[in-house]
Amino acid sequence: MKKIILTGDRPTGKLHVGHYVGSLAERVRLQDSGEFDEIYIMIADAQALTDNADNPEKVRQNIINVALDYLAVGIDPNKANIFIQSMIPQLPELTCYYMNLVTVARVQRNPTVKAEIQQKNFEQSVPVGFFCYPISQASDITAFQATHVPVGEDQKPMLEQCNEIVRKFNATYGEVLVEPEIVLSSNKACLRLPGTDGKAKMSKSIGNCIYLADDAKTLKTKIMSMYTDPNHIRIEDPGQVEGNSVFTYLDAFSTPEHFAEFLPEYQCLDELKEHYTRGGLGDVKIKKFLNKVMEAKFGPIRERRREWEQRIPEVYDILKAGTAVAEKKAAETLNKVKDAMKINYFSGDDRLA
Ligand code: TRP
Repeated sequence: MKKIILTGDRPTGKLHVGHYVGSLAERVRLQDSGEFDEIYIMIADAQALTDNADNPEKVRQNIINVALDYLAVGIDPNKANIFIQSMIPQLPELTCYYMNLVTVARVQRNPTVKAEIQQKNFEQSVPVGFFCYPISQASDITAFQATHVPVGEDQKPMLEQCNEIVRKFNATYGEVLVEPEIVLSSNKACLRLPGTDGKAKMSKSIGNCIYLADDAKTLKTKIMSMYTDPNHIRIEDPGQVEGNSVFTYLDAFSTPEHFAEFLPEYQCLDELKEHYTRGGLGDVKIKKFLNKVMEAKFGPIRERRREWEQRIPEVYDILKAGTAVAEKKAAETLNKVKDAMKINYFSGDDRLA
């Protein structure tokens, strides 16, 4: 069986360093492993519209932002097809058929949908389109016969729901769809990077994100004002590393080579943590180190983003080419689906007359 990757992001803003460690880095690693036959990276504008129906302009603007972020982190258009979801009409058609295989109660139990309904204060006013997005996400994945879906941990319930749809479809109509597996980052600190304020998640609306596009000065300012341990007031005080954002970020980003280069008094992160816990290590020192570590990682990504920003027509051509390949694949799958359901009424065995 072919090994195929499908993944994507909603274009509601620029991507941040949480996206990077949670999934983008893994996507680039898989892409460069040479183990995959086909790779599709989707800009999920139709899904973004399910809770931004009043602001299509925001979604439109962010399509290019997300594409620039993809190219900046190293998604290679020669290896991966980057495409725009709403330009693939087969996806909503698949969703139509899948909707009949899922109960309302099942979607209501989806933990991600539940949490989002609360966050967005939808309660009694959930848009139907939003409610159905886990089903449309199953279309996104199955249309490309994806075997691997590298995403953030928050997407787990979406993959479970997708696999249920695949099983139900195959049991009802015959073996056509492929069950995908989720690919998560193996570094625990990377699974859910906290915001710079110590809150559980980076969120644009809270304003606690570090963006891939942030310039060096902004990056530094954000790091220097990061949440640490509120009880660590004087340098001599013992400090706490759990729940301390600077240390969580160091867990996610620092390597022994960074210590050798930027902080040779310590061999590794455990030693630094030990000193902080004991007392005698100030926040400014650990923040300056984190800034060097993150600048080393994100400086080159930022530079590549600036270069691509000068080549927008080329970015547009990349999206157009990727979308054409994606549509062809989705059309093949839709055709198989309709054959299995015997609703290809004007052709082959399904002919009415
Ligand atoms: N739900 C994903 C997000 O919020 C975006 C997405 C849409 C997606 N369809 C997908 C991710 C299919 C993986 C596979 O970021």
